[in-house]
Amino acid sequence: MDYKLFTKRVKHIYKYLFVLFAALTIGSSGLIYKILNPSFLSFSEEDNTETYTNAEEFDNIENNIHVATGFKDDEGLQLVIANCTSCHSAQLVTQNRATKEGWLSIIRWMQETQNLWDLGNNEAIIVDYLAKNYAPEKKGRRQALQQIEWYDLED
Ligand code: HEC
Repeated sequence: MDYKLFTKRVKHIYKYLFVLFAALTIGSSGLIYKILNPSFLSFSEEDNTETYTNAEEFDNIENNIHVATGFKDDEGLQLVIANCTSCHSAQLVTQNRATKEGWLSIIRWMQETQNLWDLGNNEAIIVDYLAKNYAPEKKGRRQALQQIEWYDLED
């Protein structure tokens, strides 16, 4: 074998080894990254399952309160959620207090000026729910203190 041919072969081998080494480096760093960060390149439907559990959690009721909206749990709750939370937050509803007539006039006002739809037969149920659970507070003054524990002043 002459010298020229020898160097050519050696160069060839070096080239081959270099490509192999590069491939191994890229491959193993990908693997390490995957181990450190398991969601890398995983095309599972994790996001979908998350929305699903949120949808289930949306119905949670704790201490008689519908957690997701803050509405009190009572007959008509689902109708109120369906009809009264799409334009503004539930809080705008729950922070208000009114009688049946009062609630009805708020609804009429929204129908006349804010494009609220006709609530049909559900209107009576919704108004009952609101007037019962978000009625005006009757006591204008705070109640007198009760069960006060007096203590003696020491001198
Ligand atoms: C089509 C949209 C829409 C729907 C649906 C809707 N509202 Fe409203 N509502 C509005 C707008 C707009 C306002 C004014 C918001 C503001 O002032 O920032 C408003 C304001 C209110 C207020 C505050 C009124 C005030 O005097 O401050 C209450 C209470 C209220 N809505 C209750 C309800 C109830 C109860 C329902 C379900 C029956 C409902 N809304 C459904 C659009 C809507």
